[in-house]
Amino acid sequence: MTQIRVPAGRETLADRFISVWRRTDMLFAIVARDAMLSRPIALRHPFIFYVGHLPAFAWNHICRGVLERPSFNPRFDEIFDRGIDPDVDDPSTCHAHPEVPERWPALDEVIAYRDHVRNAVVESVDKVAARASTNLMAEHNRVLSMAIEHELMHQETLLYIVQQLGSDQKIRPPGVAYPTREGMRPRSIVIAEGKATLGAFFGDLDFRWDNEFPGTRVEVPAFTIDSTPVTNQQFRYFVDSGAYDQKALWSDLDWAWKNRVGLNAPLCWIRQDGAWLYRTMFDGIPFSDASDWPVYVSLAEAQAYARWSGARLPTEAEFHRAAYGDPNGDERPFPWGDEPPTARHGNFDFVRWSPDPVGSHPDGMSAWGVHELVGNGWEWTESVFGPFPGFTAHIPGYPGYSADFFDGKHYVLKGASWATAANLIRPSFRNWYQARYPYVFAKFRCVRPVLD
Ligand code: AVJ
Ligand code: FE
Repeated sequence: MTQIRVPAGRETLADRFISVWRRTDMLFAIVARDAMLSRPIALRHPFIFYVGHLPAFAWNHICRGVLERPSFNPRFDEIFDRGIDPDVDDPSTCHAHPEVPERWPALDEVIAYRDHVRNAVVESVDKVAARASTNLMAEHNRVLSMAIEHELMHQETLLYIVQQLGSDQKIRPPGVAYPTREGMRPRSIVIAEGKATLGAFFGDLDFRWDNEFPGTRVEVPAFTIDSTPVTNQQFRYFVDSGAYDQKALWSDLDWAWKNRVGLNAPLCWIRQDGAWLYRTMFDGIPFSDASDWPVYVSLAEAQAYARWSGARLPTEAEFHRAAYGDPNGDERPFPWGDEPPTARHGNFDFVRWSPDPVGSHPDGMSAWGVHELVGNGWEWTESVFGPFPGFTAHIPGYPGYSADFFDGKHYVLKGASWATAANLIRPSFRNWYQARYPYVFAKFRCVRPVLD
């Protein structure tokens, strides 16, 4: 995939938006025009919602929220304001906004709205700073970073929805190629007892999401962790052992869900003529070509695998310790050290359209020698997504960004996938999904007690 980037530091605020929009448009161009009303994942809106949602979010927070400008399209501001209702599992009851195809506005109208907002944003970016003394979100141009990060997150969520769309409804971009090399063998690595810093401290930071504050220091007992995540091939042994039919490996809710949806292998494995095919974003490829890629599964399946192998998944704090800690008790901003993320350090930032074989980025390993904690797939943790002590829902006009999901059903994922923008890579960034949500580009690795 081509990278369009103005060198960091020299780019203006408008340049930052323009390069993000360029990638958004390139990603939406994958979806055939007549598929804009499709909704391949029942819990998400059809694609057309996201075309309108990104500009509506920017307008509502930047132009209406901080700059207090009157709306030019109040109806669109409202219908495209928010995605799904978080706490409801039943898709027939979780869409507050129009969900019957006829009731969505025409695509051309939505695109006109988008372009109007984009022009307004480009004209407004330099006006935000003037409000800094009276508006928290104007200070350090926070609202602009928020709109950019929001759009970057949606680029990834758009892609995992597109992954579920039939290939006859996708327009394949140029340059799709799959890395089929052999991956690295896993080692078990001891992480000594020590402290981990979760979250961030408000101070002078330009922008972080509310759930990243405040920072908190926790003591983490020693544990061992696999140097690489579980691969498709390793997961195949689990599947072949009949694990999807062994009730003892699953929690009651996970078992009921797996049976209800009829899942008997990871969602992207397709059984065809007695053999497994691996479904990438655009192709079905032989399983053997993907066998050393990390397996992408739900937390429910990851935990069943861990139970089967006598292990468990890391907690959020253990992930931090393995990724950002070191044997001297220091902490670093990235697993590999201080250097800002580049393609050498991991598979992220849309360099390709698939995972890499595990262990492909030794330059990105942590101080302990743990590989690819950041990149190649988010990593599931067993930690329920919740507030750090002292959390406040401080984002004006968006109190529910995180708090709506502090419902005990969402779990923290850390790291990054191939579809995560480099700008989102930082220790405090937290992603979250429900345990039985199998669509995310999310891998896992196992943790065990230290033998002494
Ligand atoms: C942080 C990726 C779980 O997609 O639900 C986008 C991000 N929130 N718009 C999501 C988000 C509102 C969020 N995740
Ligand atoms: Fe959103």
